[in-house]
Amino acid sequence: MPQLAEKTIIQTQKLSQVIQIHDQRLHVLKSIDLKIVEKEQVAITGRSGSGKSTLLGLLAALDQPFDGEVHLCGHAIHSMTEEQRAKVRLENIGFVFQSFQLLPHLSALDNVLLPMRLQSAYRYTEAKEKAQNMLERVGLVRQMSQTPKVLSGGEQQRVAIARALVTEPKVVFADEPTGNLDQDTAKEIEQLLFQMNHELGTTLVLVTHDQKLAAQCQRQLQLEDGNLLESTHRNAVSDLKMDV
Ligand SMILES: Nc1ncnc2c1ncn2[C@@H]1O[C@H](COP(=O)(O)OP(=O)(O)O)[C@@H](O)[C@H]1O
Ligand SMILES: [Mg+2]
Repeated sequence: MPQLAEKTIIQTQKLSQVIQIHDQRLHVLKSIDLKIVEKEQVAITGRSGSGKSTLLGLLAALDQPFDGEVHLCGHAIHSMTEEQRAKVRLENIGFVFQSFQLLPHLSALDNVLLPMRLQSAYRYTEAKEKAQNMLERVGLVRQMSQTPKVLSGGEQQRVAIARALVTEPKVVFADEPTGNLDQDTAKEIEQLLFQMNHELGTTLVLVTHDQKLAAQCQRQLQLEDGNLLESTHRNAVSDLKMDV
């Protein structure tokens, strides 16, 4: 069967990150070349301290590299200012963190509204409808007006997923999204992430040290000593996705 042309959405060239700690230089990432295509699901694994979060931060335009290039959705983000990168993030990506990172004084609805309020074409009525719709899709109809402190960890992560997806981003980055959750809740959140990714056709880049979760992605990459190794095993989720 002929393959459809795959469009590259993230590309790095000789990407390096160096962290200066007092008089020591720590080479966290060493000359990484990586290409991710649209709608791909990619897991990045590696032991604690291997640079997973550092790499994700660079791919998601949160940080600036020491050396090399990062191209995200057609933008050369390695040569941009923080202000320019913020705009690229707002228009192209969603981010889900291990610690949820919700604003504690805002309701679930207002947390999900937040990224849309930062967009230039913000209109309250439309945005509210989108936010409510997304909260419904992640199973939080009853909890919309509640603040994070009365929500369970799983519910907070659902809010965070709704916030990451409400702007219809091209890429969703998730850094150990189930790391703070109990086993059963973690399973639910994993399912939700994959289901939403599947339904919305986004690219998913997921950092995890959970091998089972990584195995559900189409592609698995491993960080070791600052180098990125490909260790892909094809699996059920990717087959499901390719059938669509
Ligand atoms: N801001 C920082 N200051 C000092 N060291 C840091 C900083 N950020 C990361 N590091 C170090 O860089 C390495 C990689 O960190 P990180 O990317 O968080 O790893 P991982 O997410 O795989 O656990 C670790 O040794 C960590 O201690
Ligand atoms: Mg980390």
